[in-house]
Amino acid sequence: MGDFIWKPEYSVGDDHLDDQHKGLIELIDMLENESRMGEVLERLEVYVDEHFRDEERILENASYPDIVAHKQQHKAFEEWLAVSRRAFREPEVASMLRDSIRAYLKSWLVNHIMVSDKDYSSWLD
Ligand SMILES: [Fe+2]
Repeated sequence: MGDFIWKPEYSVGDDHLDDQHKGLIELIDMLENESRMGEVLERLEVYVDEHFRDEERILENASYPDIVAHKQQHKAFEEWLAVSRRAFREPEVASMLRDSIRAYLKSWLVNHIMVSDKDYSSWLD
């Protein structure tokens, strides 16, 4: 078990989005095993495609006022992921990647999910 365990206070008030956020914590745990880094990067790509689009659609439907800034944070994550996936294909860089990927994902949990995502929870039904 990694450093992060899901707690009820992280809930954004939508079971589907909460489940997707729990999935991200699982991916961080998977990084404890360095041999699974490629798999984690693949699954992050799926996470971005499914979760960010689901979340953005829900926020649009809820007329969330900070949607533009929120989408920009998602875009920054997508750009970081693209750079990380490219770096993973470079053998001399790949071995140094795991710690930085783990650090980025943990800061995303603390700064995005626990702050920016929590902020929209009061706008959802
Ligand atoms: Fe978000």
